[in-house]
Amino acid sequence: MAETGAPVISHGLEGVYIAESKICKVDGSAGRLYYRGYSIDLLANNSTYEEVCYLILYGRLPKRRELDAFRKKLIEARPLPGMVIDVIDEFARRQDPMDTLRSAVSALSAYDNDMNDSSEAANFDRSVNLVSKLAGIVATIGRCRNGGGYVEPDGTLTHAENLLYMLNGSRPSQKDAKLLDLMLILHAEHSSNASTFSTLVAGSTLADLYSAVTSGIAALKGPLHGGADEAALRMMRAIGSPDNTERYIEDALKGKRKIMGFGHRVYKTYDPRAMIIKQDLIALQENESQEVKALTAIALRAEKMMIDRLGKTHGIWPNIDFFAGPIYVSMGMPIEMFTPVFAASRIVGWCAHMMEYWQNNRIFRPLEYYSGPVDLEYVPLDRRK
Ligand SMILES: CC(C)(COP(=O)(O)OP(=O)(O)OC[C@H]1O[C@@H](n2cnc3c(N)ncnc32)[C@H](O)[C@@H]1OP(=O)(O)O)[C@@H](O)C(=O)NCCC(=O)NCCS
Repeated sequence: MAETGAPVISHGLEGVYIAESKICKVDGSAGRLYYRGYSIDLLANNSTYEEVCYLILYGRLPKRRELDAFRKKLIEARPLPGMVIDVIDEFARRQDPMDTLRSAVSALSAYDNDMNDSSEAANFDRSVNLVSKLAGIVATIGRCRNGGGYVEPDGTLTHAENLLYMLNGSRPSQKDAKLLDLMLILHAEHSSNASTFSTLVAGSTLADLYSAVTSGIAALKGPLHGGADEAALRMMRAIGSPDNTERYIEDALKGKRKIMGFGHRVYKTYDPRAMIIKQDLIALQENESQEVKALTAIALRAEKMMIDRLGKTHGIWPNIDFFAGPIYVSMGMPIEMFTPVFAASRIVGWCAHMMEYWQNNRIFRPLEYYSGPVDLEYVPLDRRK
């Protein structure tokens, strides 16, 4: 309690632990991230999105035959039901892709033949189905926005390759597929971030997995969370030329505007995922377009200025969303698809957390400190002044 008698409110739940988990460790002061005990650097350098999904869902790295069987399940689950394609086609031209994604995941539940089965086994199957289908849904949203039709998935392609194939209608280059695979690995999981927490809140009422995931998608949309990569790229495009960078940042800071892609509730140093993609972005340069080169130059100048101004003093460092934009641009990804692609990756984290939480479920029901009046007189309508 504060001296006034009011409770101490942790605004934005800062510093509040909401659960115990064995899925992900974010060490915000050392700038380290682990999925199931494996450092993100190791996974980024050695793994694939499919293997990382297995690790996150089942808690350990798969043996070869387990990974093969898991891949097969993902491939078999790829085709989308016709009605879900219709929903996407109808909505995608009118809405933000994240809104269509929410509706498409809701629609998927109509094709679950056993919605009454809430056993762990059924939810694992649902999770694999969701991980598989979200990539196709996201790709189909991207296509339908531009009047393109659904592209049948290709079972010979990896998860990342197939997402790009269903989005573009042509097989991706090895470079693009590898980069997307990396982005999917890096976004797959991040402990109790806003969208995962939102997933858990919905699921803690014992609502089903689709409802919980839909809630996660809703929370991911905003520019303070998943939408930050899009906002950061829009800022870089508004800066336009590398030589405008410092003036733009200076003006934004003077005007108390946030620089998207910087700052984090937990990391008070460089986000290790941002460090990984920064190196990849620098390595990319040789064969890239003028646009990617200019965006990279802007990003590096903005990064330096922000670290000098706010890094060591205020703990505001680049997060993964800062360098993501130029990487996506290099693979021809439309800007409005950045956040849906994030969702197509984070789906595995949402599902894993939901199933872990359900093992020891308790409904989330925090408190609010009411500071308004009580016992007011009810004045009949025609006597109110
Ligand atoms: C990530 C984020 C939402 C964390 O929020 P938070 O922990 O609630 O921190 P706050 O928004 O309260 O910020 C604390 C202080 O740092 C400043 N700050 C935080 N992020 C900033 C940014 N990106 N640019 C400039 N200043 C920033 C705030 O203005 C605030 O300053 P003040 O104390 O003088 O008012 C926040 O850093 C942010 O909005 N970043 C930009 C969006 C983004 O990149 N999101 C993706 C996260 S992975």
